[in-house]
Amino acid sequence: MKRAIVVYYSYSGNTKKTAGFLKDKITRKFQTDVLELKPADESRFFLKQCVRAFRKVQADLKQDLILDLKDYDLIALGTPVWAFGMAPAMRSYIDKCKGLSEKKVILFATYGSGVGKDKCVQEMAEIVKAKGADEVRSFLIPHYDVKNGDVFEQKSNGLV
Ligand SMILES: Cc1cc2nc3c(=O)[nH]c(=O)nc-3n(C[C@H](O)[C@H](O)[C@H](O)COP(=O)(O)O)c2cc1C
Repeated sequence: MKRAIVVYYSYSGNTKKTAGFLKDKITRKFQTDVLELKPADESRFFLKQCVRAFRKVQADLKQDLILDLKDYDLIALGTPVWAFGMAPAMRSYIDKCKGLSEKKVILFATYGSGVGKDKCVQEMAEIVKAKGADEVRSFLIPHYDVKNGDVFEQKSNGLV
């Protein structure tokens, strides 16, 4: 059976919920691992979170991480949109991971107002493509719809 991994960061649970839906969907076709990023240095203060994300700071990921993704056929990377971009934990992971050459990658993000949501996945796509990813697709879910499985199915339709 082919292998997949879903790597995500979630501060308040929305991206985690979406990652769960995606895992359930992928598991129908792939043996699927899940990696939740847990930064050691994440602030609990909104403004500080925004500033760090906006300045493109990388979070300190102290946990044992699967960084080499060469054994996976499908790689999914998910983040909340923070200050028009990815959260520092995902920025750190996407910078450090390897083995993306010729891989299929699904990028996903959850968002609030929607400001910066396209820029967020666009930057993620540029990074994984620069690392050799072959086929890069993405989907976005507004935070008020994260619990709605129908919206997830619609947005992620055809990706797996
Ligand atoms: C620090 C911070 C910055 C945010 N910046 C944005 C933003 O620029 N654009 C947007 O649409 N939503 C923004 N949001 C809303 C989140 O993207 C949204 O609530 C997301 O679903 C949270 O995901 P999570 O529950 O997995 O942490 C921000 C939220 C936080 C906490």
